[in-house]
Amino acid sequence: MNEDRNPAASAGTLKLGELTVRRMGFGAMRVTTDGSDIWGPPADPRTAKLLLHRALELGINFFDTADSYGPHASESFIAETLYPYPDGLVIGTKGGLVRPGRRRWDPDGRPEHLRRALDGSLKRLRLERIDLYQLHAPDPQVPFADSVGALVEAQRAGKIRHLGLSNVNLNQLEAARRIAPIASVQNQYNLENRKSEDVLKACERLGVAFIPWYPLGDGAALNSRRVKQVAKALSAPRAQVALAWLLAHSPVMLPIPGTASIRHLEENTSAATLRIPPEDLAALN
Ligand SMILES: NC(=O)c1ccc[n+]([C@@H]2O[C@H](COP(=O)([O-])OP(=O)(O)OC[C@H]3O[C@@H](n4cnc5c(N)ncnc54)[C@H](OP(=O)(O)O)[C@@H]3O)[C@@H](O)[C@H]2O)c1
Repeated sequence: MNEDRNPAASAGTLKLGELTVRRMGFGAMRVTTDGSDIWGPPADPRTAKLLLHRALELGINFFDTADSYGPHASESFIAETLYPYPDGLVIGTKGGLVRPGRRRWDPDGRPEHLRRALDGSLKRLRLERIDLYQLHAPDPQVPFADSVGALVEAQRAGKIRHLGLSNVNLNQLEAARRIAPIASVQNQYNLENRKSEDVLKACERLGVAFIPWYPLGDGAALNSRRVKQVAKALSAPRAQVALAWLLAHSPVMLPIPGTASIRHLEENTSAATLRIPPEDLAALN
């Protein structure tokens, strides 16, 4: 394996159902970003296109997006740039949040909304079936089983290959699993924020992929004292230490660092090649 040319391969793989993906993915939320609001099409479409192509060249074969990024712009831009998709690329998207304004991310888990959202994602991504469709967040106004049930119906209709959840607690994961097999959970998790450790451990027991969002803590994990110390000791960029720790922390971990920068993308993906010595891992744990 050539680690320089295909660094994502060094992360190893995991299964999303029967699909195999490398354990270093790409979070496509920020390619569309306008400031920090995740609003509108990419400010610099040329660089954003190069970024998506570069992610593939680096060996990444899992992209995470959502209908609410842009809104709609992330999914449309992925299709515009990469369709027809290369063999083996798995695109995970999400529905269940709506954007009535730049700063608003409102849950809408009504079955009728989820059905419409899924059809919109299929159209924008130019797919007949979505490999991984994640409920973006439980809606407190809607029984959780109704939201999950709507997605199970869509799966039976052939529109979804595998179901994922996002922003769920242990009870919700267990409740969803009583309705249908769940391939992944996407929760906020990084070295400095381990509130979902119980959900991660459950995913390990169940063989469910755990996709940590904010794997760099939106930048905060880079300012961690422990990360700074280990980065200095290993002469490695801090982002690589934060990401390599995630990979080492759990075999079901599938980080999806987000960036609009090709340099950061390259740095982040190469975290898969960084082996943190046991004494430094202990310091980070
Ligand atoms: N399920 C959910 O509710 C949810 C919520 C949020 C995000 N997500 C998903 O998770 C993905 C990752 O989250 P995220 O992008 O918000 O957070 P993140 O990956 O933790 O951090 C991204 C931030 O770190 C910076 N960054 C990236 N690489 C860097 C590097 N090597 N050195 C220094 N700074 C670096 C980025 O700026 P630059 O652009 O300058 O690199 C950006 O500001 C998203 O793309 C999205 O797919 C899901």
